[in-house]
Amino acid sequence: MQGKEMGNSVKDPHTSAPWRVGVLFSRTGFMSVIEETQLRGTLIAIDEINENGGINGRPIEPVIYDPGSDVRSYGQYAKRLMVEDGIRTIFGCYTSASRKAVLPVVERLDGLLWYPTLYEGFEFSPNVIYSGATPNQNSVQLCKMLMEQFGTRFYFVGSDYIYPRESNRVMRELVRNSGGTIVGERYLRLEADRTEFIPVLRDIKRAQPDVIFSTVVGESTTFLYQAYHDIGLNPKSLPIASLTTTEAEIRAMGYDVGEGHYTAASYFQGVETEGNSRFVARYRGRYGDDEPTNTCLEASYFQVNLFARTLEQTNSLDTKLLRSSVMGAEFDAPQGCVSINPLWGHADVWTRIGRANRRGQFDIVFQSPSSVSADPYLVGYGRCLENC
Ligand code: ACM
Repeated sequence: MQGKEMGNSVKDPHTSAPWRVGVLFSRTGFMSVIEETQLRGTLIAIDEINENGGINGRPIEPVIYDPGSDVRSYGQYAKRLMVEDGIRTIFGCYTSASRKAVLPVVERLDGLLWYPTLYEGFEFSPNVIYSGATPNQNSVQLCKMLMEQFGTRFYFVGSDYIYPRESNRVMRELVRNSGGTIVGERYLRLEADRTEFIPVLRDIKRAQPDVIFSTVVGESTTFLYQAYHDIGLNPKSLPIASLTTTEAEIRAMGYDVGEGHYTAASYFQGVETEGNSRFVARYRGRYGDDEPTNTCLEASYFQVNLFARTLEQTNSLDTKLLRSSVMGAEFDAPQGCVSINPLWGHADVWTRIGRANRRGQFDIVFQSPSSVSADPYLVGYGRCLENC
């Protein structure tokens, strides 16, 4: 196959052929509220790199598919990218369910999935680079703050799939081992509409928790917060706390509806770094002044940059080469300096807690002094809040 690219491992050192990469985010369906922004973060990074001459003189060319928020489609498109399009590196997925659908494909065909979303931890694959936060980088600090400021009675509400159930397993352990209780736990289907949240909110009123911990994702997030707002609860005494309610979901639900609720994330639009001011200005310039950035978008952006730096060294999209070379790589991201933890293949990212304000932004109420080492199996934690 002389002269033809096989998985982009072109041997000709003088070629100017593009580096082809796969991109899998949903632009349609109930996950598009957040995944569209992840697609944008990916494409902004690719465009910036290409405007600066590409990697070793070759542009990055994204091959983009829209899985339409259908979990199985992520696996099918991943296979298509690898088998039909000859691609090895894929940027994509928001839900852990979609990541789990892509996992067997990249493992069997030796691809590399760059996954830019916070998740429940307790996973390791040599075929995945995890760029989002794990529970030691968000849940632990969030739980501590909530118990100190609001109380010990937690109510869990989540979408019904692996991330909410596993994330709640960790949160339950943290709450219980620190003297708290879970007074209610409800899961709704991923596509749940507004009416389905009304009985949940009634049950919350009956159970009288101090905090609602939400692991609801996608469009349903809007319905949870709107139902909360409609029923007349007050975030000053009973806030919703979450890891998945970003500026994008707040914009979709209405700023007044989101105001007063808490989110733990590595990045908020209001982070004060020079790099972030430039990043936000560039994003607004491209998508409009009322389009906010968010933590999932930012992770999508920085992981492409980490990939690009690594590719500059390897000059090859070979999965093993890329993976071994990205370990320990650093990037001055909008959130601050991030790196890929060589022990885990997960990113060392910052921990922040924000409280949503009337402008749809988060006032940052907690920030780690530096990035926090990834610990996806919580080996460094006694599963309680005393020593964090
Ligand atoms: C998620 O499903 N990892 C938010």
